[in-house]
Amino acid sequence: MNDRFLRACRRQPVDRTPLWIMRQAGRYLPEYRELRQRVDFLTLCKTPDLAVEATLQPLRRFPFDASIIFSDIMLPLEALGCRMTFNPGPKLAEPVRTRAQVEAMTLRPMAEVVPYVGEAVSLLRRELDGKTPVIGFCGAPFTLSAYLVQGEGKEGFGKVKAMLFREPATLEHLLDKLTMAMTDYLRLQIAAGAQAVQIFDSWAGLLAEPEFRRFALEPVKRIVAGVRDLGVPVIYFVNAGPHLVDAAVEAESDVLGLCWRSPIGATFDRLGSRVAFQGNLDCHALFAEPAEVAARTTAILDAVGGRPGHVMNLGHGILPETPIASVEAMVSAVQSWTPRELAAAAEERA
Ligand code: CP3
Repeated sequence: MNDRFLRACRRQPVDRTPLWIMRQAGRYLPEYRELRQRVDFLTLCKTPDLAVEATLQPLRRFPFDASIIFSDIMLPLEALGCRMTFNPGPKLAEPVRTRAQVEAMTLRPMAEVVPYVGEAVSLLRRELDGKTPVIGFCGAPFTLSAYLVQGEGKEGFGKVKAMLFREPATLEHLLDKLTMAMTDYLRLQIAAGAQAVQIFDSWAGLLAEPEFRRFALEPVKRIVAGVRDLGVPVIYFVNAGPHLVDAAVEAESDVLGLCWRSPIGATFDRLGSRVAFQGNLDCHALFAEPAEVAARTTAILDAVGGRPGHVMNLGHGILPETPIASVEAMVSAVQSWTPRELAAAAEERA
């Protein structure tokens, strides 16, 4: 089996830095757009054969070192009675704004609500047959609450931040329910065969450190502890969070996913003995010419310098308009990088 991704998550030595890309299945791929003309997004997520097909599409083009099951962070919220549509982002039928609404949410077991996710994970494991490990995922409670309270994706997510300061106990009550739901959800995916899991905190960066600790980190700590006995690596991705990285280590995840704003070399210097890191090429860098993409990819690998515990990735999800040639340039820069080349280049410069 190709296990360099799992080895890097555990900070073990690897033959080369593993690479996968957040949102690697999706609209930048013509074959995904073709698939989406035939089926709507929710049907795609809820039909195991089709979800596996979408998951495998990027792997047929690129030699990525991990696959992430095709789904969405919002789908398991059906377990709490939340109804939504996608266009393309999630839109809640009824935003959650009151204490009474939070109290009325009763939690159903994930195995009943999203059985298709477990089926898709097992099917994917069989199809891949060890070619790459499978990553399961969930949204972090704070990020999920941002969508639930706002009702849709919105710059700044003012509604959840207002609730945080005006009615912190209500938000904490909602976060509690989401924490239990997501622990159950990750356990279901791991039982079905997921070999690592990622917790996406896409909106944690909206918070200053004290609020991050209480409303984002605390729930994630409980989720990490709640799946620890299952023995798979956990990745915690904190978007827009250079000011939160030192606190985020306390989640006790195996890997911290860095957004593109963090200087990865300096972050390794400071915290590399405590956690592995994933990232962090700016997703907009993929709009540069291929040679520039390769140079920027190499710069990140140089900054890490081959230290164990690095999973190469973007600093946020790949964007729909991204050229395929840029992904190819990133892949070959990762494949051809060696510390020895670095030394040779330095010698040449001298
Ligand atoms: O390869 C993969 O990573 C695919 C699986 C995946 C999707 N969403 C599919 C999807 C994953 C891991 C996600 C996570 C997700 N979903 C996050 C966290 C990551 C991040 O980008 O911060 C968030 C915040 C969401 C919520 C969400 N779902 C948004 C904001 C959108 C719309 C805009 C967008 O980025 O595409 C979705 C819909 C969605 N989820 C699509 C896909 C492929 C597009 C739907 C379509 O095909 O029309």
